[in-house]
Amino acid sequence: MPNTREALGNAHQNRQDEFYTQRSDIEKELNNYNHLSKHNHFKDKVVFCNCDDPTESNFFKYFADNFTALGLKKLICTHYEPDENKKSYVLTISRGRDINKDGKINRHDVVKNEMLFSNGDFRSPECIEFLKEADIVCTNPPFSLFREYIAQLMKHNKKFLIIGNQNAITYKEFFPLIKENKVWLGCTMNGSNRWFRVPNYFKDSASTKIGDGNDSFEKGVKYCFVKAVVWFTNLDCQKRHEDFIPRNYKNYNENDYQKYDNYDAINVDNVNNIPVDYYGIIGVPITFLHKYNPEQFEIIGLERYTAPKDILIGGRLAINGKPTYARILIRRKKETKNGN
Ligand SMILES: C[S@@+](CC[C@H](N)C(=O)[O-])C[C@H]1O[C@@H](n2cnc3c(N)ncnc32)[C@H](O)[C@@H]1O
Repeated sequence: MPNTREALGNAHQNRQDEFYTQRSDIEKELNNYNHLSKHNHFKDKVVFCNCDDPTESNFFKYFADNFTALGLKKLICTHYEPDENKKSYVLTISRGRDINKDGKINRHDVVKNEMLFSNGDFRSPECIEFLKEADIVCTNPPFSLFREYIAQLMKHNKKFLIIGNQNAITYKEFFPLIKENKVWLGCTMNGSNRWFRVPNYFKDSASTKIGDGNDSFEKGVKYCFVKAVVWFTNLDCQKRHEDFIPRNYKNYNENDYQKYDNYDAINVDNVNNIPVDYYGIIGVPITFLHKYNPEQFEIIGLERYTAPKDILIGGRLAINGKPTYARILIRRKKETKNGN
């Protein structure tokens, strides 16, 4: 648990962590893992939302409203109080507990327990007990605590589907999980910029707007445009078994593909130019991971953790002395057949 100094820092950060995910973004992703997909991961499972104010969170609302359709066993949602001296509460919905006796299990069958000893911090002992009980964790955790959050999920060997920032891929502690196929990217959002609902105290800027009641923007409510949003998961889904067929379908030739000055690999700036018949190492932008099928490609590493430090230029691979952008090094396992 943080000390007082850290707590003050965290309180400041937390104010910037209040981004509420839109229901449509949750639904689009969840449809790749629920009863509407080939993979029904949620049947008979306990789902835990551990970074959610249940009154605000569309994660809670989605799972509560779809409790029966998903075949859930239990939904647990802890509320987080930024003031660590305040006590928090937990909401649960359980199979067979039809509180209002209407024959359905949904958000009208919530049991509220206000007896938490802590403020609902996901790292608190009682939240860790809920975590142990859970099969799948699903939420949008605070970006500022992403490293700690993911480490805890891995430590407790949990299945999860969470929102994060695409830049997290390059974190020293996180990239090995991607490389070892312990975590992968989800099926939607794909690093796009998304609107999240934010509290009104958020400073107005070029990235904020007030909803006008059109589309899914509630009238009078503030939204913030967040860059490079992705889903991270360890739940299997159809997309990661689909071969990526580069749009430009190019064969390898020495003239079109330059080698790095400081590493034995070819550079590809646009994933749609990945040659369909090259079996050496290829440096690609991190956006490649949205197309990654581990049966088709192998991940060798991220340039900065793979190539010896002393040969990197500005921490990067280089061509004609000029550093490239961040590159993931990959190797093809099988040829791409057009029309596969
Ligand atoms: C990015 S917001 C997402 C909220 C909600 N999951 C959603 O998607 O709408 C992250 C949430 O985590 C909460 N939070 C911050 N620090 C936390 C902590 N240590 N433990 C649990 N929740 C925390 C914040 O209050 C915030 O509501």
